[in-house]
Amino acid sequence: MARPPVRSASARSAPGLVVLGGGESVRAPGRVTLVGAGPGDPELLTIKALKALRAADVIVHDGLVSDEILDLAPEAARRINVAKRKSRHTLPQDDINQLLVALALDGLTVVRLKGGDPFLFGRGGEELAACREAGVDCSVIPGVTAALAASAGAGAPLTHRGSAQAVTFVTGHAAPQNGEMGEPDLDWAALARPNQTVVVYMGVSTAALISERLSAAGRAGSTPALIVENASRSDERRILTTLAELAVAAEGLKGPALLMVGEAMAMAAIDVPEDRNLTKDEVSFSPVHRVSPQ
Ligand SMILES: C[S@@+](CC[C@H](N)C(=O)[O-])C[C@H]1O[C@@H](n2cnc3c(N)ncnc32)[C@H](O)[C@@H]1O
Repeated sequence: MARPPVRSASARSAPGLVVLGGGESVRAPGRVTLVGAGPGDPELLTIKALKALRAADVIVHDGLVSDEILDLAPEAARRINVAKRKSRHTLPQDDINQLLVALALDGLTVVRLKGGDPFLFGRGGEELAACREAGVDCSVIPGVTAALAASAGAGAPLTHRGSAQAVTFVTGHAAPQNGEMGEPDLDWAALARPNQTVVVYMGVSTAALISERLSAAGRAGSTPALIVENASRSDERRILTTLAELAVAAEGLKGPALLMVGEAMAMAAIDVPEDRNLTKDEVSFSPVHRVSPQ
């Protein structure tokens, strides 16, 4: 789609509206910025993200972005939620792409606000490609991805000299095939090697499969595993368990959560005394708890 011509502006009466010398008016093209909102805590927003939010005419956001962060945008900025988590109604990705392009072509400064980082399991690449194809200016502001917040909050490093020489971020979820949840196409043999951390995004519903595949490929069932739900938020919960117990430990989680498997996860801070051998049913769920294998 071709951009409208832009000549030097002599006055601006509305966002994107340029009044030309002869009194003729043409809308200047707007632009899209894909902004990483981080994992939830507004203090983990970058200064650059905050500046983009403050300059926005319209904010197109997903369900993982907290109200506290949306409140940092000007009151007059229009907010469009494209993923209403409660009703599970999500605008299809193609419609989101088209919406971003249309808003920008209408002369608006569009912030596409996404949880964590836009390029980590965030479909930011598709939105960038759609903007490029339409000739819309699009830039990206990175955000703190959930794994970094979960690891920092728990005091469990993703890499650690002697016990985690690599970290891999994987998805636990593949596009459904024939109405059934698809299995992620992962190199299980590589992920099963010891002394590395595997962080699974979107893996709560497939925790049993992940545990099975990693174990079958040779990762020890006793490998420490940390589950962090709502990382960086006031309702953050941590469950320290093992690979063998991963599926049981992940049962009943409601918020966004990460499964983190690896030797270094044993360093996770927990609030229950070390000498108590708690089972899942015995512990309170607030704010963090340990699940011990039976
Ligand atoms: C569609 S992905 C988006 C990831 C995001 N772009 C990022 O960089 O964090 C959604 C998944 O990210 C993880 N996630 C996002 N925010 C989280 C949080 N605050 N705590 C734990 N996991 C989170 C969960 O695994 C969730 O299912």
